[in-house]
Amino acid sequence: MRKPVMAGNWKMNCDNEEAEELANGVTARAGLNEKVQVVLCPPATALTTVGKVIANSNIALGAQNMFWEESGAYTGELSAQMLLSCGCEYVIVGHSERRGRFGSVDEDEADDLAAVFGDTDATVNRKARAALAAGLKPIICCGELLAERQEGKTDEVVVAQVKAALEGISADDLANVTFAYEPVWAIGTGEVCDADEANRVCELIRGTVGDMYSADLADEMRVLYGGSVKPANVRGLMEQEHIDGGLVGGASLDADSFGELITAAEEIRGQ
Ligand code: PGA
Repeated sequence: MRKPVMAGNWKMNCDNEEAEELANGVTARAGLNEKVQVVLCPPATALTTVGKVIANSNIALGAQNMFWEESGAYTGELSAQMLLSCGCEYVIVGHSERRGRFGSVDEDEADDLAAVFGDTDATVNRKARAALAAGLKPIICCGELLAERQEGKTDEVVVAQVKAALEGISADDLANVTFAYEPVWAIGTGEVCDADEANRVCELIRGTVGDMYSADLADEMRVLYGGSVKPANVRGLMEQEHIDGGLVGGASLDADSFGELITAAEEIRGQ
């Protein structure tokens, strides 16, 4: 059986003081939870602070991004080894806020966040492979844009992203991979994907992995849903067969609401 995951992606929020307070709040509510794998992904500047708060708990630390090279002249980037040395166990890879879908950025495009950051399917794959090689567990994000959904291309886009992300990854390493289906139009918009539809796409991701590896390995792999998960909708999502948890942005910034998500995951899917 797959252990459910509730991962908080704090994005570019919380200085060290705020991060410590939020981590303390989550630890007080869920630090000893053994039925749900809680993961906190603060900004890189707060990894060490949060790592100290959760050190004696069952909560795991995750980073929001990494670079695939081990070291060198890459200003502003962080290696897998650096994240491990901060105590990270997980790393989010290929979040839509980091995937540039349209190549280079001109000055007049600089306000378009989707184009500013440069991840492509190929760099997502490099990051996932480098994470696994170093001993980090990648949470690989995939999901379609609104226009792609409207054009009926959701399945095609998601399957292509999953296949590209897993290129060259061994069956042994697959055991440390988690996917997160995050329809881009549902992120930070308050617009949650219908639970049945989210389940259908999560099943599609599992099926794609099953075709690439084996049904047994796909059955063990965790697939999360992300995009406006909150206390009001988490139960409907967690009741779905193929949704093993959430990758949560906004609602993870409040210890009470994140605590409610963890409780729901435990009650519905905890073993
Ligand atoms: P949201 O973000 O919960 O604020 O929609 C989810 C995510 O981007 O991972």
